[in-house]
Amino acid sequence: MAINSTGLQPGQGAGDDPDRSHTPSPAVVEAFASTSLRCVECSALYRAIEAGQPPRYRCDCGGVLDVEMVFRLPSESGLSAQDATCGLGPDGDCAPSAGAAWRQLFDERAANPPIWSISTDKHLLDCSGVWRYRELILPAPEHYVVSRPEGNTGLYPVGIENCGPSRAGHRQIGVYAGLERFFLKHEGENPTGSFKDRGMTVGVTMAHLLGATAVACASTGNTSASLASYAAQVGLRGIVFLPAGHVSGGKLAQSLAYGAQTVQIEGDFDDAMRLVERVCNELGVYLLNSLNPFRVEGQKAIGFELLQQLDWQAPDWFVLPAGNLGNTSAIGKAFRQAYELGLINHMPRIASIQAVGANPFYRSYMQGFATRESMHADTIATAIKIGNPVSHSRARRVIEESDGVVEQVTDEEILAAKAVIDRAGIGCEPASAATLAGVRKLVAQGVMKRDERVVGLLTGNLLKDSKTGMAQQAHGPVVAPTFDAVRSVLLS
Ligand code: F0G
Repeated sequence: MAINSTGLQPGQGAGDDPDRSHTPSPAVVEAFASTSLRCVECSALYRAIEAGQPPRYRCDCGGVLDVEMVFRLPSESGLSAQDATCGLGPDGDCAPSAGAAWRQLFDERAANPPIWSISTDKHLLDCSGVWRYRELILPAPEHYVVSRPEGNTGLYPVGIENCGPSRAGHRQIGVYAGLERFFLKHEGENPTGSFKDRGMTVGVTMAHLLGATAVACASTGNTSASLASYAAQVGLRGIVFLPAGHVSGGKLAQSLAYGAQTVQIEGDFDDAMRLVERVCNELGVYLLNSLNPFRVEGQKAIGFELLQQLDWQAPDWFVLPAGNLGNTSAIGKAFRQAYELGLINHMPRIASIQAVGANPFYRSYMQGFATRESMHADTIATAIKIGNPVSHSRARRVIEESDGVVEQVTDEEILAAKAVIDRAGIGCEPASAATLAGVRKLVAQGVMKRDERVVGLLTGNLLKDSKTGMAQQAHGPVVAPTFDAVRSVLLS
């Protein structure tokens, strides 16, 4: 069923807007002419957009799809197009100068002040930490872009050596990890409080330019909050499928407040995921889980922005929590593309960290990826409580290509690491703390060396889940409104 016939009943939202009941314009089809979708399993190739056809989320063989496109420097940049192609030399070595034109383009855009003029769309794009890299993300005509803007998240030096004199508190994180040069990139500083906004700005832009009337996802809470926000911005109907009773209050509140239709499923994330894919295909709703290959393209921007913040000096390691594996796939792809374009001169090794109770990717890795594992997941880190990750094959490629590792950590280790991040004044939601727990474990095992340059990803804001692991510091004492009462508390 084509996306221009939503299949949903009339009178249920933006589906009635006649302006949206159209197939993609010839200009949109033309803009995507050199963009394709390749099956990760069998390498079959499809057009990214086919006029009159419903969007494709999987290959005919059932495999997930990966976006392929030709990167071109914008003609108005005046930079040499010769540098726009692959920066690898004939023997696979990286030509260090090849990425200079790209670096110049992105550095000029980032030099704009971090505030934006609301009267110029172009400036808005440059101020987004996703659309600043638009030539590497999506060839969308600019007026379709739906952006808050997002990205531009902090990169905190927290290592024993690199934290600097004014960061004694942050240094405790480096001490806990056992690393001299350690950074944390905080994606919880995005507009809806998680990294999902990076993929969602691209996913909702795709929905917009395809003329979709409704968008949907299954979620452990962050994707749904992000979808709800971006769908509301452009007036699309948002539908989110959540595992009932397994989504933190803060995330559920966001989806409801932003006005998405919230369907709570008696089941887990994997049940919700299975259902939403079928609903989208049969009812003509645009799917915005990371099964949608364009969302993965948006999340690549975490990698590009991080490299730019490090002045294009790639770290030795990049560490992140892993659930549905969209982020592992996206950031690994970004590093590979940055290397191929000559933006950086080596690929960081990637470490994906799972919770012990939700560790299908780890189990598979431990068998040399001989089998694909799935399980019933259980962990206090609800964001990564996923037993059958959709992006397994994409992420496997990333781990293999980057000489990466997959590690697991217990819920106790996650909570202990979260307390360290929180007490340093940075804070994060429980799933994010798997990053620090994983780093500490890998350093202790000697896999990661004390003097290696490591970047860890914090994926969600502290306020997303302000209950889990917080009991010990939940409430301070309540005292009488007198100086003596306050003094006795402070001096006790
Ligand atoms: N951290 C947080 C805070 C998340 O919300 C998620 C995923 C992950 C890590 C794992 O990332 O799935 O790309 O491996 N949350 C999804 C959601 C599943 O629905 O919000 P992944």
